[in-house]
Amino acid sequence: MGDPASRGAAPSDVSQADLSAPAGPLSAAMKNVNSYDRELTPEEIDRGAHRDAIGGMWEEIGRLQFEFVKSRGLRPDQKLCDTGCGALRGGIHFVRYLDAGKYYGLDINASLLEGGRRELEKAGLAAKNANLLADDRFEMSRFGAKFDYMLAVSVFTHLYANHIVRCLTEAQKVLAPGGQFLATFFNAPTSAHLQPIKQEPGSVVTYYDRDPFHYSPEEMTMLGSLAGLKTEVIGDWSHPRNQWMLAFTPA
Ligand SMILES: C[S@@+](CC[C@H](N)C(=O)[O-])C[C@H]1O[C@@H](n2cnc3c(N)ncnc32)[C@H](O)[C@@H]1O
Repeated sequence: MGDPASRGAAPSDVSQADLSAPAGPLSAAMKNVNSYDRELTPEEIDRGAHRDAIGGMWEEIGRLQFEFVKSRGLRPDQKLCDTGCGALRGGIHFVRYLDAGKYYGLDINASLLEGGRRELEKAGLAAKNANLLADDRFEMSRFGAKFDYMLAVSVFTHLYANHIVRCLTEAQKVLAPGGQFLATFFNAPTSAHLQPIKQEPGSVVTYYDRDPFHYSPEEMTMLGSLAGLKTEVIGDWSHPRNQWMLAFTPA
């Protein structure tokens, strides 16, 4: 290899970068990946616009995800990390069910978390001490806890593969022994499926390389393995927009 001087001058931005330091906020890099880079105004939150901002179907999809995780064995004394929790469409149900302090929600969008706080107040659940964190790097370890269950509903559907690997890699660090990370995705029949897909039911059109994204089960399994996780494809779980379910566990 030789030293840099003997190879000629490296571009200064490369040679001077401090590679041991975080590269700064990822939020900027998330601009235009999906619509969640836009913070709602306080007036919009007053009007309840956070419910539509996370995709609507507030009651149906909120309850669906709660019942599903419960059917996988979630107990009130266990800890759940809701990754990309948004305005707590599912979170409200989990906070009600879990013992105080056992619900952890992380999201890139602080205004949606604020919407979630309002929902908790409205539901009389403020005293259940939900832990809510705005974070743009999926650093669930900032909670200082290990999780029996982790969940990401309608999150990977809005992300490029490298963001998903970041999320899974961070999740792998905080999954308790025997824990599971349940996550949804839009299914594609083949890997590298470049054509758009109309997902039925729901009529959402998904894409290979723009939001909303689709992936094949094989692609999702590969992303899991990059993060040191084993992937079980659960598939159809009665989601009204045809999102499929996966369970990631430590490999
Ligand atoms: C369709 S909403 C779903 C919210 C929630 N899981 C639910 O079922 O209501 C997608 C959520 O993912 C969040 N999100 C998108 N990209 C993210 C990222 N890079 N890090 C953390 N959250 C992200 C969005 O802010 C938004 O709240």
